[in-house]
Amino acid sequence: MVAHIMLPGPTLSVGPFLRRSGLSNVDVMQDLLSVIGFLFCLYHFRSLLDVIWFYYLRPTDTYRKYLTGPRPYALITGATDGIGKALAKELYDKGFNLIVHGRNEEKILSVIDELKSCSSSGGEVRYFVADAGRDDVDFEEIARKFEGLNVTLMVNNVGGIKIRLERFDEWTEEEHLIQVRTNAIFPTLLTRAFLSSLRATARERPVLVAFMGSTSDETAMPRIPLYTASKAYVRQLAPSLHADERFEIDPNGGHDRNIDGAIEFTLVHLGSVRSGLIVAPVNFWRPSSEEFAKKLVGTFGCGRRYVVPYFGHAVALKMRRSWPEWYVEREVLKSTRAHLDREGRGRLAGLGE
Ligand SMILES: NC(=O)c1ccc[n+]([C@@H]2O[C@H](COP(=O)([O-])OP(=O)(O)OC[C@H]3O[C@@H](n4cnc5c(N)ncnc54)[C@H](OP(=O)(O)O)[C@@H]3O)[C@@H](O)[C@H]2O)c1
Repeated sequence: MVAHIMLPGPTLSVGPFLRRSGLSNVDVMQDLLSVIGFLFCLYHFRSLLDVIWFYYLRPTDTYRKYLTGPRPYALITGATDGIGKALAKELYDKGFNLIVHGRNEEKILSVIDELKSCSSSGGEVRYFVADAGRDDVDFEEIARKFEGLNVTLMVNNVGGIKIRLERFDEWTEEEHLIQVRTNAIFPTLLTRAFLSSLRATARERPVLVAFMGSTSDETAMPRIPLYTASKAYVRQLAPSLHADERFEIDPNGGHDRNIDGAIEFTLVHLGSVRSGLIVAPVNFWRPSSEEFAKKLVGTFGCGRRYVVPYFGHAVALKMRRSWPEWYVEREVLKSTRAHLDREGRGRLAGLGE
């Protein structure tokens, strides 16, 4: 008699027992390989189902849960160009009131005019001016300015970098610090300043804080090491803040995703998007800021800590992760050189390309 452990699909022979039962090593190996093959297929099938669900079947109006309470506001940093501006427009059209941020008041006011003239929403738009690269931003003062507003959505979008020909040690210390402040410190301290009022709102209704990352955070990229490092920092910050907010109120150790009454945090992972920063043409791999903003809004409220809103970026990321490191590094070097050749010294970087 032959004993088997029944698994869904193949059957696994129990080694020693079966050997006593007269089965050869080849039979055991065959069974083992079929189980491994089955588990491999199961894993990939599950991933495929998840992709189909996330990009094609999932409801995309989950953002509506942040449209609750009196006059809900979305706060968007870096909203005067590219993705931030497109996102502001998208959220305004969907009925949010806005708090927009930029570094140039004149540009902010013209964006606000544009928003209001292109939409019938009639929502309120407030703003604040701050250079995210400076070390004297008064975050508490900014938060005080908007105290009492029902902010249910905060998108830390500001960021970017100029790619330059100079080597790492040819940039001044201050130039490096500006990159880190803009991409990492500003979103961190702004979020910190708003935290107590967001927390109070979250006790009443859902609140989401999103951080804009970059797929460059997992790729070795020349000439912009502090940009990629800052984005890697942000990538870790979002889920850590999520856990931190739950630490005291969640008996399951801070990792209960469904707990009510706490701010949700999410990391938005993106590749190349045509924007003020990236002026390359739109294609399958590189959507326009407007298209990307639509996809992004569709992910708000989906419950994930980490989202890749645009399908082409998810495909590129999957491919990049499956390639050998040396190949990715070589291709990135080639594309950075081509970018610098094309755009000339000092052009804004082809980040995520
Ligand atoms: N586009 C991409 O391919 C790509 C890829 C990966 C990640 N991302 C990330 O996505 C986010 C948005 O990028 P984007 O492509 O939309 O960039 P963008 O078109 O250059 O827009 C950036 C926005 O941030 C503002 N900003 C930049 N530096 C600032 C500073 N020091 N102080 C205050 N405001 C500042 C800009 O203001 P001005 O209008 O005054 O310039 C603008 O409103 C960034 O975090 C970026 O790292 C973009």
